Amino acid sequence: MSAILLTGASGFIGQALARRLASDDHRLRLATRSPLPGCPDGAEVFHFAGLDPATDWTAALTGIEVVVHCAGRAHVMAETAANPLAEFRRINTDATARLASQAVQAGVRRFVLVSTVKVCGERTRPGTSFTADTTPVPADPYAISKLDAERAVRALGASGGMEVVIVRPPLVYGPGVRANFLRLMRWIDHGLPLPLAGIDNRRSLVALDNLADLLARCIDHPAAANQILYASDGEDLSTPELLRRIGMALGKPARLFRAPAWLLGSGARLLGQRALIDRLYASLQVDIRPTRRLLAWSPPCTVDVALERTVEHFRARKQH
Ligand SMILES: NC(=O)c1ccc[n+]([C@@H]2O[C@H](COP(=O)([O-])OP(=O)(O)OC[C@H]3O[C@@H](n4cnc5c(N)ncnc54)[C@H](OP(=O)(O)O)[C@@H]3O)[C@@H](O)[C@H]2O)c1
Repeated sequence: MSAILLTGASGFIGQALARRLASDDHRLRLATRSPLPGCPDGAEVFHFAGLDPATDWTAALTGIEVVVHCAGRAHVMAETAANPLAEFRRINTDATARLASQAVQAGVRRFVLVSTVKVCGERTRPGTSFTADTTPVPADPYAISKLDAERAVRALGASGGMEVVIVRPPLVYGPGVRANFLRLMRWIDHGLPLPLAGIDNRRSLVALDNLADLLARCIDHPAAANQILYASDGEDLSTPELLRRIGMALGKPARLFRAPAWLLGSGARLLGQRALIDRLYASLQVDIRPTRRLLAWSPPCTVDVALERTVEHFRARKQH
């Protein structure tokens, strides 16, 4: 049992992780700027104004052994910042470095940073995966800010004697998933014919329950110290296979047909869906063999079970 400060406790991943850590009997302090939709029994809540390079974490860090930093500026669909990179850096890099630096001063033993595969880029070549040794090539301001955060926290940990664990998840799906994954579920649920049958790629995804399980393992496993770890379900699917599996979970077979890539590209551009289609075409795989070996971990939940849980929540939300 550890005393844990969890940030981002109001978010998609943070809520699931808070429930998981509470059920593991850890002593939890949840840092949030928003009202929490649900707070596990026994958890303490630390309210703060928002992530900022000047935030004072002293009170939040008192008595804490492990920080899990899940809060971050992510999923920005309609950017309003005049300088997106500066805003991503302020919140994801500088505010994170501030938290890590004060964690060192407070004598925190371990800092677990929820980063992203995007620090390495948006795609992998067929048959290859991102590993801890891949040279990072972040492609957008979000990914740049997360890579800078990784580097800052590792440097602070190394100089201050605090263990650092970097976890890089790919797309996370599960009950309450939003953005592109939700859009795919809606398309299939509406019975929309999708011209995606011909895509021959592989993508790693991670179910919320699998990621929460891995992060829970990172709290206290000795071998996690100072590692960069990837997370996934351990079953990488092609886009058409993923759509078929979502269809099976929904009880509505995905209606897939083949279309030439050029036609799909032009159609997607016309409909303003170019970025999504590029993503659906590309491969993006991560290597979780070191994660499995080091932590004696395997994803506890299969893709099909995770999709059933995701769909169950999607249906319940539709009825409201
Ligand atoms: N979901 C994915 O597919 C995925 C994949 C890879 C990595 N990640 C990483 O996982 C972490 C959590 O992602 P998520 O999917 O759970 O995102 P989310 O649902 O948007 O949650 C983000 C969390 O960060 C908090 N936050 C954001 N900006 C803040 C600010 N300026 N001050 C204080 N709190 C702030 C949010 O608080 P409010 O509720 O107050 O806004 C929320 O608790 C992020 O660091 C993200 O980079 C996510």
